[in-house]
Amino acid sequence: MNAAVSQSASPVELKPRPEAQAVPEPQTKATPALSFDGVTKRFANRTATPFTAVEGLSFDIAPGEFVSIVGPSGCGKSTVLNMTAGLDRPTEGRVALNGEAVTGPNVHVGFMLQKDLLLPWRSILRNVEFGLEARPIGKAERRERALRELARCRLQDFAHHYPFQLSGGMRQRAALARTLAIQPDVVLLDEPFSALDAQTKLLLQRSFARTIHASGVTTLLITHDLSEAVAMSDRILVMSERPGRIVEEMDLDLPHRDDPIARQALPRAREAIAHLFQSLHLAEREA
Ligand SMILES: Nc1ncnc2c1ncn2[C@@H]1O[C@H](COP(=O)(O)OP(=O)(O)O)[C@@H](O)[C@H]1O
Ligand SMILES: [Mg+2]
Repeated sequence: MNAAVSQSASPVELKPRPEAQAVPEPQTKATPALSFDGVTKRFANRTATPFTAVEGLSFDIAPGEFVSIVGPSGCGKSTVLNMTAGLDRPTEGRVALNGEAVTGPNVHVGFMLQKDLLLPWRSILRNVEFGLEARPIGKAERRERALRELARCRLQDFAHHYPFQLSGGMRQRAALARTLAIQPDVVLLDEPFSALDAQTKLLLQRSFARTIHASGVTTLLITHDLSEAVAMSDRILVMSERPGRIVEEMDLDLPHRDDPIARQALPRAREAIAHLFQSLHLAEREA
């Protein structure tokens, strides 16, 4: 992934998104880790007309890329993640992982929520092993993988502690270790830092950035924190109020991919955040 400093005067590269247009990809491009192609999701309700949650979503995420989706509450961000994880099906269009259509829950996706969902009666190590227990993986390999991921999340000294003995930030790191232990192709993060205090949040963003980039996993982060999106992402997709559409795509060519705290302090990062503020305001007014 290219995180080199761009010499251009513009803080970001902006690509206006025409309404629901699926642009054909050149044949030479590598298969995206995740692709949405003209995806619309409607939910049935008590009225005759079904409720449209998201409409005409088309985007690709390259292997190893870190993409964030920002947008107002209720614009369909969680719906996007659910369709990626195969927990929900698109009404129209296609969601694909590594070129294969998603037809249900599958082993390619790791899903992490705001709540760590660690089992309180299991040690941190046994929590990380938990996700592997449903797989045909022997005990020894399970242990080896869990210890490796705990080390990557800098929790090796806490393997035998229980969740209640850890801080909120450490618990989220343990949850990330558990997610990465299944070796997913794509990690989905739904507001994983939103329940934490401001300083823990910054430290955890940095910790996650390091761990995720060291693992090379493709990542889709949902957040309503614009600074967080700019600090952590290679690219940001901005969604409008419902029905959720992608109204803007922002390529961030900023340094400090592994250090969101340093990145946030850059003038170009601040310009990007200011631009997103404007852009979301416009998106709200259009809806
Ligand atoms: N299973 C469902 N049935 C009916 N409506 C739903 C369902 N899931 C989500 N919605 C609606 O779809 C819209 C988008 O929801 P969601 O994806 O959770 O938004 P966000 O995560 O951006 O806040 C909301 O209006 C929500 O009420
Ligand atoms: Mg949500």
